[in-house]
Amino acid sequence: MPRRVETAATDARRLAFEVLVRVEATEAFADVLLAHRLADAALPPREQALTTRLVYGTLAWQGRLDFHLAHLLRDRAVDRLDPPVRAALRLGLYQLVFLDRVPAYAAVDASVRLARVAGAGASGLVNAVLRRAAALGSAGLVLPPADGDPVGRLAVEWSHPRWLVARWADLYGSEALPALLAANNEGAPTALRANRLVATRDALRAELAAEGIAATPAPWAADGLLVERGAARLRALRAWDEGRFAFQGEASQVVASLLGLEPGMRVLDACAAPGGKTAQLASLLGDRALVVALDRRRGGLDRVTSEMRRLRAHTVVAAVGDARRPPLAGSFDAVLVDAPCSGLGTLRRHPELRWRRRPEDVPRLAALQREILAGVAPLVRRGGVLVYAVCTLTSEENEQVVAAVAAADPRLVVEDVRDHLPPAAVSLADAKGFLRTLPHLHGLDGFFAARLRARG
Ligand SMILES: C[S@@+](CC[C@H](N)C(=O)[O-])C[C@H]1O[C@@H](n2cnc3c(N)ncnc32)[C@H](O)[C@@H]1O
Repeated sequence: MPRRVETAATDARRLAFEVLVRVEATEAFADVLLAHRLADAALPPREQALTTRLVYGTLAWQGRLDFHLAHLLRDRAVDRLDPPVRAALRLGLYQLVFLDRVPAYAAVDASVRLARVAGAGASGLVNAVLRRAAALGSAGLVLPPADGDPVGRLAVEWSHPRWLVARWADLYGSEALPALLAANNEGAPTALRANRLVATRDALRAELAAEGIAATPAPWAADGLLVERGAARLRALRAWDEGRFAFQGEASQVVASLLGLEPGMRVLDACAAPGGKTAQLASLLGDRALVVALDRRRGGLDRVTSEMRRLRAHTVVAAVGDARRPPLAGSFDAVLVDAPCSGLGTLRRHPELRWRRRPEDVPRLAALQREILAGVAPLVRRGGVLVYAVCTLTSEENEQVVAAVAAADPRLVVEDVRDHLPPAAVSLADAKGFLRTLPHLHGLDGFFAARLRARG
């Protein structure tokens, strides 16, 4: 490797290492930290891509890497290591096992150097462990046997926490499950939404192409574009400054169609920050409408406000408050509850989330979701619509919330989403009439959404 390229690759590994240490020490999201660090570092595009791959890959495969490390470390436990040593080992082993094009010596040497911050003994340990792994090769790093404990085997093989694999085995069946687990370990495309207030998808696509950024129309979302090349430059474009597009996942974009929006409507977005869907609602409603963006976090609403300014979304009014007891009077034609949830449908974008979530988060969040829906339901006018959405795949936070809320409020009727989705997206509905997107089936984040109507 020429020296300049080698130096850049070393920078990529150092940057990835720093992000990994910080992600483990804080509650910060890896994608946000990484974006900040990449913006500061000014690495060449190839090295940016390597850094991204190292961070996402090491976090996604962390469970499997730790399983192998436990064997390689012999008498030391992975969770008792100093955090920088653990991060250097995971990063090095990830490259040895999953990146064919990285020479073993480069992966080992870089991790040995990175571990030096924890002392000479630490780098000696990293050297010994990674050399042992390199000598064994991928084939020598064995997985637990499948017979006897299939859930345990899947959890290690596909690097997910055991409790989650056990839940999903019940939900999807153990035959279909490996495809979902595998999809969660792949990257997700960068998705944009053309802002109808000032652009069309075709015009935006042409403008991006003229800047050397390749994007294709998103298959399920009418305003969506999937960026194939050049995503790192998007925020530097004039089209960004002038509000012609927003970042929004494709599954998230599909949810809005369930609200049945029409010009002039009054719409409440009850869990609005950071404003991805608020901006979309404003863009679909046009000038003659009112969108109230409610959120409990003032800081989150500040982001909504500045984003609406950039996107020329002048019909949005922000309000701080708890949706369980909304500080609002009057009634709305449509209310969206894009609720706080366990986020387990977004593991492609947030690989670290699987290691942070605990099984007890699920019932706690389901209770919050029910309370929020019960809190805003009285604000839906007679004949109006209430849409509930979450980016997670647990029945407690999905259909069980809808069933509980509908049972508790006789005003609410659950409607079949197939009658309201655009033709291109009808196949995203399940047999029960809910919107349910899945990474392995649709190439989308895992979203669930239901439509309820207040009786007239
Ligand atoms: C999934 S996020 C919403 C994402 C947003 N709709 C978007 O598309 O960008 C959930 C939001 O709910 C907010 N939240 C949590 N509890 C709340 C409550 N009791 N009342 C209002 N907002 C709440 C959180 O602050 C968070 O911003």
